[in-house]
Parts: sequence; C-alpha cells; structure tokens
Amino acid sequence: MTDIHLETKNLSFTYPDGTKALQNVNLQIKKGEKIAIMGPNGAGKSTLFSHFNGLTEPTSGHVEVDGEKIIFEKDELLKVRQKVGIVFQDPNDQLFAPTVKEDVAFGPMNLGLDYDEVERRIAESLEMVGMEGFEEKTPHHLSGGQQKRIAIAGIVAMRPEIMILDEPTAGLDPEGVDKVLNILNNLNKEGMSIVISSHDIEMVNEFADKIFVLYNGEIIACGDKHDIFSDKELLKKAHLKAPVSTEILHKLKNNGFDVDTTKISIDEVTEEIIKAKKI
Ligand SMILES: Nc1ncnc2c1ncn2[C@@H]1O[C@H](COP(=O)(O)OP(=O)(O)O)[C@@H](O)[C@H]1O
Ligand SMILES: [Mg+2]
Repeated sequence: MTDIHLETKNLSFTYPDGTKALQNVNLQIKKGEKIAIMGPNGAGKSTLFSHFNGLTEPTSGHVEVDGEKIIFEKDELLKVRQKVGIVFQDPNDQLFAPTVKEDVAFGPMNLGLDYDEVERRIAESLEMVGMEGFEEKTPHHLSGGQQKRIAIAGIVAMRPEIMILDEPTAGLDPEGVDKVLNILNNLNKEGMSIVISSHDIEMVNEFADKIFVLYNGEIIACGDKHDIFSDKELLKKAHLKAPVSTEILHKLKNNGFDVDTTKISIDEVTEEIIKAKKI
C-alpha cells in the first residue's frame, strides 16, 4: 500500500481555444494531509481540481488515486468520484434541489444506499457542518456561508476519502471562514485528506500543512509554510503576499533587529518580537 493518496503525473491540459491551463503538473498528496494550492486568478487551480476526480480528461499525463490511474470509463469514474469529493467554488453550481435535505440526499441516493442509511448520512453530515434544523429550507434562501456548508455536507454525505474544495472561504465573512476551517479540520482529524485552493495567505497560514504554488499552469514551488512564506521572490512572482506576521519580521530585520524571518504563526512571531535585539 502506498501512502500517496492523490498524484498527478506530467499533467497538462489545453482548452479547445488553445489556452494552456496546466503544463506538466507533478504533485503528490499523502494520506491525511492538509494541502493548499495557491496561485493568483487564472493560475489554473479550478482546471487542476476538475482533473482530480475525472471531471476533465487531461490533454496529456494522468492522475492517480491510491496509486491507480483514473480511467475514463463510466464505472471507473463512479469509483473515483466516491473516493474524491469536490466542493465547487460557487455553491450555485452545486446546490439544485428545492430543499436542503433533498440536496444532501442526492449523493448518498446515487450510491444506491437504502432509505435508513441515506437518512443517517443526511443527519450526520448536517450535524458535521452545524446546519441541523435547516432540512426543509430552500438552499437559495440561505446565506453564502450557509450555502457553502450545505455544499460541503452534500459531499461529506458520500464519505469520500479525499475532499477537494475550490476556494472554500472566498466571499465569506470572518465567522463563516472560521466555521468552514473548523469543519475541514474536524474532517481531517477523522482521517480525510483535504485539498483546498486559495490566494488568501492568512487563511492558508492557519490551515495548511503543505503548499503548492501554481502560476501560469505550472507548479513553481512546493513546501511547508515556512519555506513558501519566507521566500519573498517566489511570493512576488506568484502575485501573493506574505502573511502580515512575517511582513512585520522582515520590517524589523530591515531596521537592524535580529529576528528569524521564517517564523509565521502569530505565536512564533510574537515570541520573536519579544526577544528581538538591535544588532
Ligand atoms: N472554458 C475555458 N475555455 C478557455 N479557457 C479557459 C476556460 N476556463 C478557464 N480558462 C483559462 O484557463 C486558465 C486557468 O483558469 P482557472 O483554472 O479557472 O484558474 P484559477 O482557478 O486559478 O483562477 C485561465 O487562463 C483561464 O482564462
Ligand atoms: Mg478558480
């Protein structure tokens, strides 16, 4: 058994109009990891995600789930989609049923589960996202943050092993962001591998173990938060900004203070500032 959960090998994709959206993308996601794919608008994040469960067929190269190449045949794709669940950026692309309950039920019903099991999964996944009691509501009448949580519940109800979320916190208020991150952390604690895309560095700083930087359809860097966020050249190239916490350390260093600019969490940075000495 491999501990690599999801892998792309020389994955390239060109849209029919000639746009080279992905070029030779090689990435590995291990079981239980929390990964962020970072990159500016148009970098290719959504195109990449649509390859992770076989919604899009590569122009060249391929994707492997649990060491097995995704094969573009109906039964094979069903198996892959059971393992890899995708939450789209816009809940409107996902939510379609007249009630929350029917929406969340859709996936489990398609898996051919019996009535009791479907009911169990609806209850369990709505509880997981803190939306129990909203069963009979119309998804369109909910707030953006609530819609996002219902969209997540619909995927959780299929019990995938890997959850892919395209910009899961974009457009949410701070409380909405915290709620979504909480849900993702809880799912991860239960063993789910989580992959998100984002250009929100503060959120990624809080959430991800490991980061891939995508720019112009290419992975230009990969590493832990310390590697990525302390590399000013890289961040500039990828149109990303360092977290405010590291910006402060860089400013202190430029002013002659002896600080370690690779520190990034608020706690670490506070510690650096407290012990900073002028040299
Ligand atoms: N359906 C499409 N047809 C042609 N080009 C597209 C299509 N969708 C996206 N693109 C282009 O592919 C590139 C990557 O887009 P996308 O994957 O949406 O990036 P991101 O999600 O990082 O913003 C961009 O240059 C975008 O304009
Ligand atoms: Mg996108």
